[in-house]
Amino acid sequence: MSATTADSPCRSIPCVAGSALGARFSYESDRIGCLGRWAAEYGDVFRFGVRTVVINSPDLVQRVLSNTNKQFLAATPLVEHLHTSSSENLELWMRGRRQGRRGIHPDAVLDCTARLNDALRRGLAECAGRPTALAAAAERVCGRAAVDICLGADASAFYTLIARASLDILAFNQTLHPPLWGSRRRRARAVAAEVEVSDRLMGLIALRRAAGALDDQDMISILLRQDNPLPDKAAAAMIRIALIGGHSTPGAALAWIIRELAARPDITARVRMEALDSRDSKGDIQVAELRFTAALVKEMLRLYPPTWMLAREAREPVDLGPWSLEAGTRVLFSPYLMHRDVRWWDQPDVMRPERWLGASAPHTPNAYLPFGAGPRMCMGSRLGMDMLTLAAAHLTADYLIDVREPASEKLHPDILLVPQRTQMMLTRHQGATASIAPADHG
Ligand code: HEM
Repeated sequence: MSATTADSPCRSIPCVAGSALGARFSYESDRIGCLGRWAAEYGDVFRFGVRTVVINSPDLVQRVLSNTNKQFLAATPLVEHLHTSSSENLELWMRGRRQGRRGIHPDAVLDCTARLNDALRRGLAECAGRPTALAAAAERVCGRAAVDICLGADASAFYTLIARASLDILAFNQTLHPPLWGSRRRRARAVAAEVEVSDRLMGLIALRRAAGALDDQDMISILLRQDNPLPDKAAAAMIRIALIGGHSTPGAALAWIIRELAARPDITARVRMEALDSRDSKGDIQVAELRFTAALVKEMLRLYPPTWMLAREAREPVDLGPWSLEAGTRVLFSPYLMHRDVRWWDQPDVMRPERWLGASAPHTPNAYLPFGAGPRMCMGSRLGMDMLTLAAAHLTADYLIDVREPASEKLHPDILLVPQRTQMMLTRHQGATASIAPADHG
């Protein structure tokens, strides 16, 4: 990939027919369907709306992702001093990533498996025994575990704040879907939520420093006890993004997993057997022993990637293969579409965890992107995988799952892909099988 020059080869990018506003309205009524139809009609690269280009080819997407921070920008936090479009802040962010990864990587965090087991068991027990919205319950289970890993002992006090702030922060995403209306109010709420979480984290950092309490095994202490620690504001930003990212995204993935387990007693039985076989006397499950369950998680992240759409912005004029992008072009690409493309996968619409058990990857290179790729790839990918695998294991070991959803349930993703109107009931296991049934309400 190179910066555009006057004589570089350049094909004009096909544009979705009709007005920009008309295309946007069609898109808003059925985001996934529209992108799929446009890709079929216009090919792997097309324009949609003003300065927006959609890419649907693994190679081109990989080029964009690996050039992030150079020719392309990732979405940035809203709060001014954290804006990674400035080179200085970008450098700080990348240093924070290197340090912060240690704080959330299961191999580096002491007792990570025991803590995850404990947090997930408690989270599931809290949801059991009453009908509850599936997405919210799954988010709570994962969110509590992520907050524990990031903040350790202070976790429970922070959880409610993170859950509330995530709603406001995720409701405003100007890179992915610039709001058509109500943007000022939503932006203000998102900024206020980011500021509130940052302020509380700054307070926590100050307390930890004052008490000299930096030995803990959590992201916050690990960031603060580095030889060349980040400035407090940057450390708080890092932790804030990890808390928000570790709350809603794995929660969305867990919701799809629970829904599938309820619908597939055969798969549930296999996951349960693996869980019971690897459970120790304390009730902890070793994630390394859950081979089939991990394959199920990968398959569900393929079929329902929570971050179903990712975005970058061209910092400068860029040639992308035969295509030329102007500076400021928003580049969108959808892991959801890529994961279901028959050119890159065998029978992509079929749920088949076994495809992940072979010796080689079951897809064309770069066609599997649940965690993104390149320098801004998810920092919590290993933690997220372990969390989901263990959650599925504990769930099937201890509970019967009953899931109900309206027969008309349609995918309408926003920033995340979530089963929005599905209800769940977990009941302590007594040997019966799980079920999925249509709800009697609309
Ligand atoms: C199944 C679980 C998860 C999925 C599917 C997921 C997915 C993603 C994706 C796709 C991105 C990249 C977005 C982009 O390229 O624009 C991302 C970024 C990020 N994720 Fe995750 N994530 C998961 C779990 C977690 C967890 C558990 C944490 C931390 C506790 C976390 C922390 C982060 C952070 C900090 C970033 C921002 C990285 C940066 O901008 O440099 N994620 N995640």
